[in-house]
Amino acid sequence: MPKIIFTDTSGTSREVEAKAGQSIMEAAVQNMVPEIDADCGGACACATCHVYVGEAWTAKLKPMADMEESMLDFAENVQPNSRLSCQILMSDDLDGITVETPESQ
Ligand code: FES
Repeated sequence: MPKIIFTDTSGTSREVEAKAGQSIMEAAVQNMVPEIDADCGGACACATCHVYVGEAWTAKLKPMADMEESMLDFAENVQPNSRLSCQILMSDDLDGITVETPESQ
C-alpha cells in the first residue's frame, strides 16, 4: 500500500498507508491526521484539505482541474506547490509522497 508522509506545522511527521485510489484527504481523515479539515467530504467545494506537496513529488501529480484551481483561490497562504488533498488519488507511483499541512485551513 502506498505511503503518505504528513508533516504538520509543529514539524511532526506521520506516516500513513493509503489504499490505491484513495485520496490523500481520505487517508488523512481515516488516520486522524491533524490540520486537514475536509469540510465538504471531498467534493472539491471547501479548500479545507489544502496541503503543500513536497517539491520532489509535484511533477508526478496529475495537473489541477479548473475546479481545484478555483477552490484554491479560497485557501490561505497558497504556494506554487499547493494542492487540495481530496483531488490527489494515491497510486503506487506516489508511494512515499510528502505533504505539509498549512497553518490554517
Ligand atoms: S475536502 Fe473540500 S475541497 Fe477537499
